[in-house]
Amino acid sequence: MNRRNFIYLGAAASGLSLITSPLIIAAEVPKLVGAGGLFYTKEAPGRWKGKEGGHLPQMAIEKIDNKLKVTVTTEHVMKFHEHYIVKHQLLNQDFEYLDEKMFTDPEKDQDPTSTHELVDYKGEVIYALSFCNKHDTWLSMMKI
Ligand SMILES: [Fe+2]
Repeated sequence: MNRRNFIYLGAAASGLSLITSPLIIAAEVPKLVGAGGLFYTKEAPGRWKGKEGGHLPQMAIEKIDNKLKVTVTTEHVMKFHEHYIVKHQLLNQDFEYLDEKMFTDPEKDQDPTSTHELVDYKGEVIYALSFCNKHDTWLSMMKI
């Protein structure tokens, strides 16, 4: 599957409720303390300007009953331990930890995509972090 083109079809017939359009780089992140220095966003890429495309986590969210299935991908190479995505992490709207996926073996794990299931999530947004071993931490936001 082309990671850039997640498309969800047949939702109504299956009872699946969609709350997002196809996979997108998340909505504009409001100006946050630390953006452009402590971590990077599309709007504040800081010293890594030009690296946004390969580092911003992209999210797709499906709603199924009381569960959210969040798919996060980073369009980044997995060049073994030399240069790779270390992990994805999800945070709620208060920047509290929700879930994470470690890519512990970049020798084998060549696809920095993760899926996360959240039950009874009540927030209005979800933040995703993607950690590159060379280009630091990138944050995207998606409205639910
Ligand atoms: Fe990188």
